[in-house]
Amino acid sequence: MNLNQQIEHWLGERFTAFSRSDRPFVTLSYAQSWDGSITLRSGKSLALSGEQSTSLTHQLRSLHTGILVGIGTVLSDNPRLNVRLWTGPDPQPVVLDAHLRLPADARLCQLPDKRCWVLTSSDAAAPRDAALEIIRLPGDSEGRVCLHEALRELKQRGINSLMVEGGARVISAFLSHKLVDAIVITVAPRLAGGYKAVTDLGVETLVELPEILPWFSGRLGNDLIMWGDVRYQTP
Ligand SMILES: NC(=O)c1ccc[n+]([C@@H]2O[C@H](COP(=O)([O-])OP(=O)(O)OC[C@H]3O[C@@H](n4cnc5c(N)ncnc54)[C@H](OP(=O)(O)O)[C@@H]3O)[C@@H](O)[C@H]2O)c1
Repeated sequence: MNLNQQIEHWLGERFTAFSRSDRPFVTLSYAQSWDGSITLRSGKSLALSGEQSTSLTHQLRSLHTGILVGIGTVLSDNPRLNVRLWTGPDPQPVVLDAHLRLPADARLCQLPDKRCWVLTSSDAAAPRDAALEIIRLPGDSEGRVCLHEALRELKQRGINSLMVEGGARVISAFLSHKLVDAIVITVAPRLAGGYKAVTDLGVETLVELPEILPWFSGRLGNDLIMWGDVRYQTP
């Protein structure tokens, strides 16, 4: 099996074994430099992945029923989140946007065949002429969308597997709430000294850190691909 087949097979096994009925299986996937930066600074777009690892990202998208990013990523990268460099179905796009900042002219609001789901805790009206579905959910103590409620809602709407693509605030929030089941990272051979993928997880000791076990690695073009199961210390 080549690397793409290995990851597809590995994920398929995880999806089958996943037994929770209250939320989707969550795969975290992003590209970083060797020093752990996902971009130079928040709000700036930086394409770190090579051609083959970008195709892997599209393959991963096609394997999940939903794909989620934060509003910070939409405002800086204006992504489509669909499958263009692989053959397979597009996942349902979802944006975490507590204050409903998504602009009507964002590419995600203009998809030909999907209405983007926007998870918000705001009462504000949806932007006009945008192909969106606004889903209002409770906020957490910091005014962000409550992730547990978000995942429950997505599961009820038929999302059984969710790929979380970033950015850093969203990655860190999912990890600190222990809501990531699997991780697939592209490591590009660059040193960026920029905005790190994972920020404060609110833990103090080594044993409390999320651990990747077992983990696997391989090479695609000039990039290192690392993947594995994410485990947390049981309380
Ligand atoms: N290299 C890669 O693979 C990759 C992938 C994705 C993004 N990026 C980069 O990452 C940068 C964006 O990252 P970012 O950290 O600034 O923004 P982000 O994580 O994309 O979005 C964060 C925003 O999402 C909203 N949000 C709502 N509920 C949330 C919750 N429960 N937890 C966390 N956030 C929640 C918040 O804004 P509101 O309060 O307004 O809702 C928050 O500020 C961009 O520069 C982009 O290019 C890189």
